[in-house]
Amino acid sequence: MCAAKLVPEASIRQQYEYIDLIAAQNREKARLSGRNPRAVAHTFGCQQNFADTERIAGMLSEMGYDITDDVNDADVILYNTCAVREHAESRALGNVGALTHVKKARPETVIALCGCMVQQEQIAEKIKKSYPHVDLVFGTHALWRFPELLFRALSREKRVFDISGDAAGEIAEGLPVLRGTGAHAWLSIMYGCNNFCTYCIVPYVRGRERSRSPEVIEAELRELVAAGYKDITLLGQNVNSYGRDLGLGMDFSDLLRRLDQVPGDYLLRFMTSHPKDASPRLFDAMAECGHVAKQLHLPFQSGSDTILQRMNRGYTAGHYRELIAYARNKMPELTLSSDIIVGFPGETEADFQQTLSLVREVGFDMLYTFLYSKRSGTPAAEYPDSAGKEEKQDRFNRLLKAQDETVEHRQAAYLGKRLRILVDGTAKSPDYPFAARTEGGLLVCCKGPGLQLGDFAEVEIDKTTLRCLFAHTIIQHETS
Ligand code: 5AD
Ligand code: SF4
Repeated sequence: MCAAKLVPEASIRQQYEYIDLIAAQNREKARLSGRNPRAVAHTFGCQQNFADTERIAGMLSEMGYDITDDVNDADVILYNTCAVREHAESRALGNVGALTHVKKARPETVIALCGCMVQQEQIAEKIKKSYPHVDLVFGTHALWRFPELLFRALSREKRVFDISGDAAGEIAEGLPVLRGTGAHAWLSIMYGCNNFCTYCIVPYVRGRERSRSPEVIEAELRELVAAGYKDITLLGQNVNSYGRDLGLGMDFSDLLRRLDQVPGDYLLRFMTSHPKDASPRLFDAMAECGHVAKQLHLPFQSGSDTILQRMNRGYTAGHYRELIAYARNKMPELTLSSDIIVGFPGETEADFQQTLSLVREVGFDMLYTFLYSKRSGTPAAEYPDSAGKEEKQDRFNRLLKAQDETVEHRQAAYLGKRLRILVDGTAKSPDYPFAARTEGGLLVCCKGPGLQLGDFAEVEIDKTTLRCLFAHTIIQHETS
């Protein structure tokens, strides 16, 4: 048990030197052209990728790039890619292919790809051969070296490919980050995954679990709260194993209790939890910490013990039910979401019926349902598969229907209830112009005098639909 290697400060300083070099070049470009150079930093994939892109955007911004969405008007285009399902890869590759036109029109544009998809050797090779307009490719382990890699790509000696790195992983602290302007912020507490669920590519592309130190996390939380962020999500592939590598005798529930002491008016959420590691100890901490939202994302993937075993998930459906019962007993207002994979190799109709039963019985507020996608290099890619495509699609549709029925009832039960919400955007509905989230993360469109982005408010629910609650304000809580 030993803490992950920290990237040495001297190496981080070196990256800042590259940032300065590029910034100097960009100032000169801006002087000649009368405008700052621009960069696109687009994310495909999960929350971890969004958090990573914020780091890259932070570096780009320090280099003097204005961040834009317009690929036709960019000097650097960076796509942060995902590998979790084939669909995510084809979407990313489709978008990369479409950039050939941009490269033709503006050959000086640097096209860069990073993230989980390109960390896979066979994909990096494919890009080298079949996507000659891509100038820079770097994997998840090289993210912190982006300034140096971009500098080399800008020098145009040759195309730059770097998917090297130790799967044991390192942690790079002290690089810039450019966060969103709303109420919400991501806060990574750990990286990587040790679980090797048999369908999942993540441990191969993101390396082993490594936890950031509690001091660094707390300091970042304090900064976020001071900067006015009110909805903060702690991120990790499996947050419940936080701290195991640190040898400090602390676990994730200890971290939650420590962070909860940071003063301010904000909510802490976290994801993702794993049923094999989530415990009553965690639910006690959630219940007792005032800042922690009573919201739990606890993926169960399948309701069949046979399939769970083949997935190497390390728990049974019965254990999952017990966890939920304990959590709901402690936090009756808890909102609950989960991930499910339909059509895992060898899943029978009887296995699927067990998934359906669990969905109906537990009553989730939100489900993320996925058709199994074969990932080469994972054990499940070699498992025999009997069910056909249509059969799997039919199971998937039945699951969605069951979920919609549950959600409709759950949403309707909020009618007339009073809830605390955080306003975080604008809504399309003219009668309810603000978009907000409940503490449990449910979407609310709301109206009321004096509402502003970033406000907490007390509301009463006027009507409900499958996807949204509609509400008016009762008392103004606080204005940011
Ligand atoms: N096929 C389909 N879904 C997958 N997930 C992970 N790997 C695969 C795969 N090969 C889903 C799991 C996980 C979520 C983030 O993505 O449900 O919890
Ligand atoms: Fe993938 Fe399982 Fe790790 Fe989640 S816990 S990232 S599903 S291997």
